Amino acid sequence: MIYTKILGTGKYVPKKTLTNNDLKEFVDTNDDWIYSRTGIKERHIVTNEGTLDLAYQTALKAINSANINKNEIDLIIVATVTSDFAFPGVANLLQAKLEIEGIMAFDINAACSGFIYAMQIADKMIKSGSFNNALIIGAETLSRLTDWRDRNTCVLFGDGAGAMIIGKSETNQIIDIITGSKGDEDMLLYYKNADIKDPKINATSKQDHIHMKGNDVFKFATRIMPKTVKSLLQRNKLNVDDINFFVAHQANSRIITKSARDLGIKMDKMFMNIDKYGNTSAASVPIAIDEAIEKGLINRGDLFITVAFGGGLTWAGALIKY
Ligand code: ACO
Repeated sequence: MIYTKILGTGKYVPKKTLTNNDLKEFVDTNDDWIYSRTGIKERHIVTNEGTLDLAYQTALKAINSANINKNEIDLIIVATVTSDFAFPGVANLLQAKLEIEGIMAFDINAACSGFIYAMQIADKMIKSGSFNNALIIGAETLSRLTDWRDRNTCVLFGDGAGAMIIGKSETNQIIDIITGSKGDEDMLLYYKNADIKDPKINATSKQDHIHMKGNDVFKFATRIMPKTVKSLLQRNKLNVDDINFFVAHQANSRIITKSARDLGIKMDKMFMNIDKYGNTSAASVPIAIDEAIEKGLINRGDLFITVAFGGGLTWAGALIKY
């Protein structure tokens, strides 16, 4: 039986920060509204870096933390909705930039649940016996899709990347993963790609921006995250108290607080760093896991659950022994 475990993690955010006060330059808002409704104080945004650059920096950190030779990596999966190119994917260019020859590399899109989706895929590919060590990354430059005139959305998002290397293990450490989707026919959360071009007139299309029905997304999130955690606990015959720590997707502190309350989880067991980064979509979960480990909130041998929801609509959760 092949098992898997986390070998190392890393995170990287661009240098430039945009505080809530900075946003007052573009939209009618204020620090008090943003912080009380979302828990966000500031976010990092790119100036001259692309998603590949963020992915590369975080990959170097994860490789260093895993203490392996980069050539031992035989699979790269990048979860992103903000690939620099429609093709080639971030994962393909990253494979070249890391100078790892000829290995399988591809991007996936499951919005903010993307990183745990990538973990599910990599975990099963390693457990199949065909792969040894996977570099999985969530990397986003959502600032490029943001409408900086829309105060309902522009205050929420930030850029960043987080990475994890998972590999074969003699003990069962990536214990269980749930991934799910319910096609967003009501268009609660979307960004539309360019319209169809008429080949005869070669019409160019205007770039879209993020659209969101915030209240409906809030309701979906506060229902699906507790449901996913409960399923993980039930499937593995565990109680909330058996889990040392919880890392939820950082979309809104009120979503996290409400989910914790519904599950009976004390807030000191629930990670929160949204004040510094905002919602970094697929990067949020791996950045949060890396920071929780760095701060000593998750230690070797601890059981933790990570859970996310996102555009798609998608959701995902994982039960892990670190
Ligand atoms: N500053 C000041 N006022 C604002 C702002 C702002 N930035 N944004 C909205 N308002 C106003 C609204 O216009 C509204 O005013 P009105 O009553 O005069 O019409 C009022 O504040 C209340 O607006 P609501 O939308 O009801 O505020 P709510 O308490 O629901 O908070 C929020 C909005 C923060 C967006 C919340 O609904 C939320 O967090 N939803 C979930 C968002 C989320 O998690 N998205 C995930 C994206 S993930 C991905 O896959 C990309």
